[in-house]
Amino acid sequence: MNTNSILIVDDESSYLDLLKGLLNDEGYKDIITETNPLKVFDILDSRNIDLVLCDIYMPEMDGMELLEKLTEKFPHIPVIMVTAVNDVKTALKAIDRGAYEFITKPPDIDRLFLTINRALEHRLLSLERDTLREIRELHRKKWKKDFADIVTESPLMHKVFELAAIFAPTNETILITGETGTGKDLIAKKIHNLSPRSSKPFVVVNLVSITPTLFESELFGYEKGSFTGASNEKIGYFESANGGTIFLDEIGEMPKELQGKLLRAIQYNEIYRIGSSKPVKLNTRIIAATNKDLMEAINKNEFRADLYYRLTRGFINLPPLRKRNGDIRLLANYFLTAGNLIYNKNIMGFTEKALAELNSYPFPGNVRELENIILNCVAKTKDKTFIEKVNLLPFSANEKLSGYKNEEDLLLTIDEAVKKHIIKIMEYTNQNIQKAAAILGISERTLQRRLQEIRKKK
Ligand SMILES: Nc1ncnc2c1ncn2[C@@H]1O[C@H](COP(=O)(O)OP(=O)(O)OP(=O)(O)O)[C@@H](O)[C@H]1O
Ligand SMILES: [Mg+2]
Repeated sequence: MNTNSILIVDDESSYLDLLKGLLNDEGYKDIITETNPLKVFDILDSRNIDLVLCDIYMPEMDGMELLEKLTEKFPHIPVIMVTAVNDVKTALKAIDRGAYEFITKPPDIDRLFLTINRALEHRLLSLERDTLREIRELHRKKWKKDFADIVTESPLMHKVFELAAIFAPTNETILITGETGTGKDLIAKKIHNLSPRSSKPFVVVNLVSITPTLFESELFGYEKGSFTGASNEKIGYFESANGGTIFLDEIGEMPKELQGKLLRAIQYNEIYRIGSSKPVKLNTRIIAATNKDLMEAINKNEFRADLYYRLTRGFINLPPLRKRNGDIRLLANYFLTAGNLIYNKNIMGFTEKALAELNSYPFPGNVRELENIILNCVAKTKDKTFIEKVNLLPFSANEKLSGYKNEEDLLLTIDEAVKKHIIKIMEYTNQNIQKAAAILGISERTLQRRLQEIRKKK
């Protein structure tokens, strides 16, 4: 049996009876017939109708006029127009005015049923599509408010918000990728704040800053007496984030031998404290971030593929600032306001030349670099004037950058080349960690760790 309700409007009651009988036989049991088109809206207002079959020539009201009113007031109800005359012109007019289809009277039964079935299917699809659109619109309105403190007008960032809002209420692991300074920390915290875990801890663990030998004790904790010096038990990061979110930052920098240990904790959401054989079951949501291309790291055998897939139930990639149209100007003004507050000044704005300079700069350090540049400018600019010049790194050829001319440079191993490049960039930026990290596309912490290693090896 078919549960759809069909309304047939025709001034000839004998035709109505005939059609009703035919449809009943075909399994359509809920058929309403009406000879007076003026009563149609009372019916539609009082009950659910899935489809209307409507005669074109009726004395009280022209079918075409009824069709127009119908499609305007009930856009989801498909209308099939029926007429005794095989009039192509009227047929086309009806379609033009929103009829789903047009059939002639007396109807070809097969064609009638086929058209009715198609129209009902079409209705379902368009309802689904509109419901989806409404949900999306609601969603959009919601994230606009939720993400209002993240300054952007870039559609690429709006996509990021949309995704973040979808993942936030779930317990899925999320990997956030993007160049340094693109806002990975910001988005991770936002996801936590928008989740049902928001009142529980958000624990940030920077995986590069943990000494490998202390990795397990820092992450999983230890029992009292488990090793010399363990005079009290210690709760690790995973346990202290229980009920909340643990943010594993710079996951791409983690030594491979430690990745397996992390995998276990993520896979089973349980950990073993050092010195205990009893697992501690946890309810910790995991968000990880990296500025490294993990796929490339997997190919180079530096990152475990199984860990990667555990981490990426949700995946968010933050676009670099240079790809966010209009955001450089927007953020520059935002940081100018912040700078005015910090330095208790009233810098009026930027000259067009300064803005043009900012807009043509590639910002390897992204939003963080822009923030630092603008705050620096505000500090240095005279009160109540405009910022005329911005202190950017010259990206043009620079003699300090020309190097690698000797033959021995061609014989360097990758490690040696990386080391040499880091040292070059440090020289180039006059040992400015922040600028060097921005050029190298790594975080300041990673750069500091690399520098420590270089110094140790010297
Ligand atoms: N759209 C934005 N609006 C306002 N502030 C922003 C925005 N994006 C980033 N910031 C600010 O820029 C700085 C860098 O952001 P964040 O620390 O989240 O970057 P990151 O991607 O985690 O960088 P890294 O890879 O170096 O860890 C922070 O001070 C953050 O508050
Ligand atoms: Mg970060």
